[in-house]
Amino acid sequence: MNFVDIILDKRYGKALSDEQIDFFIRSVTEKTVPDYQVSSLLMAIVLNGMDDREMTTLTMKMASSGEMNDLSYVDGIAVDKHSTGGVGDKITPIVLPLCATFGVPGVKLSGRGLGFTGGTVDKFESIKGFNVQVAQEDFPKYLKNCGMVISGQTPSLAPADKILYALRDVTGTVDSIPLIASSIMSKKIAGGAEAIVLDVTCGSGAFMKTREDAEKLARAMISIGNLAGRKTVAVITDMDEPLGKAVGNVLEMQEVHEVLLGKGSEDVVEVACALASQMIILAGKNEGMSIEVLTEECRKRISDGTVLSKYYELISSQGGTILPTGAPDYVEKPFEEMRVPATSDGYISGIKADVIGHASVMLGAGRLTKEDNIDYGAGICFYKKVGDKVRRGDVVCSLYRGESATLADEKLFDVMEMVSDAISYSDTPVEPHKAVIDVIS
Ligand code: URA
Repeated sequence: MNFVDIILDKRYGKALSDEQIDFFIRSVTEKTVPDYQVSSLLMAIVLNGMDDREMTTLTMKMASSGEMNDLSYVDGIAVDKHSTGGVGDKITPIVLPLCATFGVPGVKLSGRGLGFTGGTVDKFESIKGFNVQVAQEDFPKYLKNCGMVISGQTPSLAPADKILYALRDVTGTVDSIPLIASSIMSKKIAGGAEAIVLDVTCGSGAFMKTREDAEKLARAMISIGNLAGRKTVAVITDMDEPLGKAVGNVLEMQEVHEVLLGKGSEDVVEVACALASQMIILAGKNEGMSIEVLTEECRKRISDGTVLSKYYELISSQGGTILPTGAPDYVEKPFEEMRVPATSDGYISGIKADVIGHASVMLGAGRLTKEDNIDYGAGICFYKKVGDKVRRGDVVCSLYRGESATLADEKLFDVMEMVSDAISYSDTPVEPHKAVIDVIS
């Protein structure tokens, strides 16, 4: 088979055969094709798309390019959850113990943050002693211990996706529905999940800027999941403003603790309960409860401390430290460095999530390259959300750095300006954003 013919077929809008897709992914994994030919094919896919059969074949070939996890030791249905990325997304540390209180086995492989979206592994790593590199063969021991385990993805999980993602990142071929859908679903399928709940984010801080595109991505992933024999449900959630109050590793884990003490932001609780109830249903652990009753039960377990106890079990099981006060012991203390005041009287009409994500990376909370060190204490904490009434001069948010601050003092003013410009105001009342936009199954 000739790689140029595959490029030409896709360039002229033809559907690729399963054999062509197999050749493409084998050539990428075995590194027998130069990057320029792969990039050219990726661009042809961006421009001419793929049908459901092509996307499913691409996904399965990427999934089987490395190790396929076998979760047959799991007692029950292993349900995985994945977010298409966002700013302030601290849902996994809430959903994992929440689902465990219903007996849903939690085996979670998560990534580190790159670019302006944070990574769940970095967030757990901000708890002192928490081990995020659990060996696969030890998963059954951890599951027996507390019903959950979370670990960083190994390089052997869907290696073709890693190679393709690195190329997409530098060739303007990231935001393509078939490429995003196959990239995400290949890792979920290789991870061994029998059922998958997708948090498809939508808005300025997400890959999909509009609801229409988010629905298209959701439907593409559901179709792949179903054709691959995995029950798949998607929840479309808002990512036009950051989720909850905090952005940054320790700050977000502090917010998780606050949520589990029953004092969390409504949007975080709403998204967590919407995702968890879908996961519980797919795992068959809803005990006859309708989705509405189940969602209420999730809220109750968050507010009455049931989930907090499970969260403590998870932290202890993986070596994390909990202080006598009940708060986890974090690797850095966030220091409030600067307050960002409202520049106008009125109602907050927008807080651009992408700009806040970039500002938080500048403060040191995220990485621009895989090798960058992060300041776990850095980030931004909001006291106001879209729809809130403010007076000029009220504090809208604060900028934080940790003890290991990497950002020079004089640069703080640039970040402050950037954050201030990301916040818009209206003279007339503004509706708060709906956190959960739709559920597609
Ligand atoms: N997340 C992924 O894992 N892959 C993509 O292509 C985009 C988001």
